[in-house]
Amino acid sequence: MNVDGIVLVTGGSRGIGAATATLLAHQGQRVVIVDIAPEPLAGTQAILWPAPFDVASEGAVVSGIADIERAHGRITGLVNAAGVFGKMHAAARVRMDNWDREINIDLRGTFLMARSVGERMAQRGAGAIVNVASVAGMTSGPIHAYTAAKAGVIQITQTLAAEWGRAGVRVNAVSPGFTRTVALEAGIASGALNRDRLVRNTAMNRLVEPVEVAHAIAWLLAPASSAVTGINLPVDAGFIAGSTWDAYGGWPETPDA
Ligand SMILES: NC(=O)c1ccc[n+]([C@@H]2O[C@H](COP(=O)([O-])OP(=O)(O)OC[C@H]3O[C@@H](n4cnc5c(N)ncnc54)[C@H](O)[C@@H]3O)[C@@H](O)[C@H]2O)c1
Repeated sequence: MNVDGIVLVTGGSRGIGAATATLLAHQGQRVVIVDIAPEPLAGTQAILWPAPFDVASEGAVVSGIADIERAHGRITGLVNAAGVFGKMHAAARVRMDNWDREINIDLRGTFLMARSVGERMAQRGAGAIVNVASVAGMTSGPIHAYTAAKAGVIQITQTLAAEWGRAGVRVNAVSPGFTRTVALEAGIASGALNRDRLVRNTAMNRLVEPVEVAHAIAWLLAPASSAVTGINLPVDAGFIAGSTWDAYGGWPETPDA
């Protein structure tokens, strides 16, 4: 990672973004967080951009990035962690206002941020971007706009990596599995999601911790991954590997030791 510049983390006040900003700051990186609902992070040096920042608004993104660079210096790392979960419905019941909201924030917002920061990085000849996609973008589920948005994030990651590779800018994605954030816990508390079902379909029989996603993001930002671009790295406790086993009757009984 280029410690001369700053790492900008969107959605940095909560969940995966907050865990990532906290980890990067502890690693000695200068970190600025932006969020539509800005809240400072306790116990870290991460700098809060105090004004609400909407990644889905083109005007706000373009002017906000210029203001942040003027105040805090060049952005050499970008983490696009801002996002909203999808509403779960049969196709017939998908409300198009919800469709537009999920696509606007999760896909359009990620593209707007990546483009606005990535163009600056490309002009300077260096930078790394990590987009937070989802296992939902690699599998099917009753979250029609969300799965499409996250599949789109994986695709734009590859496209932008190809476009800016010669300019020294790397673009990668991580795809978290079900990760123990406030947003996921709220989904479980509301009854929309069932913890036991989420857990038992993973190879590792557990949820992912936000800091585990943060470590993958930190690696993709760092010089340690200097030849890696255009990839999508699942961080899912084996959800993709394990989610088909139920069709075969689940996991075999472990023989008695
Ligand atoms: N938690 C999971 O199980 C999981 C799994 C796969 C992918 N993800 C993805 O990870 C990302 C973070 O999810 P999380 O679980 O940490 O959620 P979260 O709700 O805890 O955090 C998301 C943050 O993004 C902010 N945000 C929302 N809309 C915004 C906007 N328009 N502009 C700027 N900030 C905005 C929120 O205020 C919040 O602070 C999302 O893209 C989500 O889709 C999460």
